[in-house]
Amino acid sequence: MREEIIKKAADFLQTELRKTVGFTDRTERMVEYRIEHSFRVARIAREIAKGEGFDEERMYVAALLHDIGYTVQYESAEDASRHGRVGAEIARPFFKELGYTDAEVEEMCYGIAIHVDDTSDFSGERTPFALTVGDADNIDRFDAYRIYEGLEFMKFSEMPLAEQIDFTDKRISKLKQFREYPYGTKTADNMWHEKVDFQLEYFNRLKNQLESSSIATI
Ligand SMILES: [Fe+2]
Ligand SMILES: [Fe+2]
Repeated sequence: MREEIIKKAADFLQTELRKTVGFTDRTERMVEYRIEHSFRVARIAREIAKGEGFDEERMYVAALLHDIGYTVQYESAEDASRHGRVGAEIARPFFKELGYTDAEVEEMCYGIAIHVDDTSDFSGERTPFALTVGDADNIDRFDAYRIYEGLEFMKFSEMPLAEQIDFTDKRISKLKQFREYPYGTKTADNMWHEKVDFQLEYFNRLKNQLESSSIATI
């Protein structure tokens, strides 16, 4: 990986996203979280690239800018689902400026365009490289931070015990379904299973602990 390219992409990401602090739905911390998430996704994508023999630098740069579409203010969560397509448009001239070939740029942009809802507004091929952008994004969303964030968001600590048990139960069945989600590469598949298995272990242990939190049945 060429250091100056990585630095340029990181600067572009941070400068553009930081301009959005103050949008109706963005606090400074939310914008910083988006940047931190982007760096993690880029690292995951690079690991997949390493395992699959893709160009690591190009993969890292594409994944780093996967959420660059958030430089736009969206009307609602539904409207924000086009941030992949918007992001591809923003990233295209930047990728060209970095010196990647037209075919390379298109593959990177296609990966960004389809990473949210698998829909693009321009034609492209679902190559393993393009699919890796969304795969890396999903893998990050299922790591340790999100367990905590998800529980906090659902106000887990304020739920009565029975509700907590029910919540963990539902989470476990959802995770079992998610585990079968098809990924673009074998490397991503393995990383995904590792993350989901970690969450399954966590929620199973949580459920066992909660179930032993009331009087023993004889
Ligand atoms: Fe995204
Ligand atoms: Fe993302």
